[in-house]
Amino acid sequence: MTSKANKRARAKKIALWSFLSIFLGAMLAPLSGYMYVAVGGVAHAQAAEDTNPRANYWRAVREGFTGYSAVQGQEANVLIQNGGHNWRQWRNGPIANYGPWLFALVVAVLAVFYMAKGRIQVHGAQSGEKVLRWSLFERNLHWINAVMFIALGITGLSLLFGRAVLIPLLGPEGFAAWAEAAIAIHNLVGPVFILTTAVIILVWIGHNIPKSHDIEWIKQGGGYLAKGKHPHAERMNGGEKVWFWIIATFGVAVCVTGVILDFPNFGQSRDTMQLSNLIHSAGAIIWIAVALGHIYMGTLATEGAMEGMTTGYVSKEWAQQHHDLWYEQVKDQQVSDARSGSTTGSPSTY
Ligand code: HEM
Repeated sequence: MTSKANKRARAKKIALWSFLSIFLGAMLAPLSGYMYVAVGGVAHAQAAEDTNPRANYWRAVREGFTGYSAVQGQEANVLIQNGGHNWRQWRNGPIANYGPWLFALVVAVLAVFYMAKGRIQVHGAQSGEKVLRWSLFERNLHWINAVMFIALGITGLSLLFGRAVLIPLLGPEGFAAWAEAAIAIHNLVGPVFILTTAVIILVWIGHNIPKSHDIEWIKQGGGYLAKGKHPHAERMNGGEKVWFWIIATFGVAVCVTGVILDFPNFGQSRDTMQLSNLIHSAGAIIWIAVALGHIYMGTLATEGAMEGMTTGYVSKEWAQQHHDLWYEQVKDQQVSDARSGSTTGSPSTY
């Protein structure tokens, strides 16, 4: 073979091998991903991301990435607000599921307690002497607040549990009509209730500072557990102080979050609204559960308590039995049964 023929044969061989290696490389290169996963153990999600070049893009959208929108307005450029999903899970999950169980538990405990202990009577003969316990202003404040609390409780719980409880009872149209009225009542009464609650806190905070004998009152169950025993109490006893501080903490949280929800035009984000809604509903459920206990104590459990909050006066014996330390402060202002008809007085030594 001539050297020319040799050169041509060599060039052919190089071209053939070059073609084969490029062809083989082109065929095998896409399979390298599988090799990478098999050898490196990289997660399946990562492989999916490699094969979906827009995965990161959609993930960003899902996590609230703000894009461009010609529509003006708060968060109008957010396509998917991820927090909404979490809010829904919490609201329709633990809050909606455990709330009714808490109410049922409180009602059951109170019913058992009432069956076991009955009503606490005022001991001994009644002298007919009375002392002013609540001024007219305090009674009006209490009852206006209580009526609004009940209205807010009924309308709020209707909105929270309406889908599960009221749609089966009223039907979708009936529930829609009631829900419209309920939200209007809730949103209008709420701000007035916040005002009266704030006044209640200011007016009664001075009487609700915890003292050592309040701990003793709570330890002894206020004398409700062992009949005849009555631990010391000032104008407000240990139990009433607990109720007061529930109002001043959980109640205040419910009121503040209520304002955030009722007036959404002050720049609060959806995240803030969602968090407020969760605190508002969970706080309200706890507040209502404790209020059931307060209502039980004020009506069924204690003879003479309602008389105090309606006429303003309580008997000398009631005051001595339930609020002995307070009675010592006000006993000079005692009036006879007949004179207690005037209910506009203002307790001067409070
Ligand atoms: C409608 C149901 C209610 C009834 C039957 C009721 C009954 C009573 C009664 C009888 C008293 C006087 C207790 C005593 O003389 O020691 C009282 C005190 C009081 N009530 Fe009510 N109440 C009701 C609702 C409410 C609500 C909704 C609130 C607040 C949100 C409230 C807050 C208070 C406070 C702060 C006191 C003063 C004693 C304390 O610090 O606990 N009440 N209630």
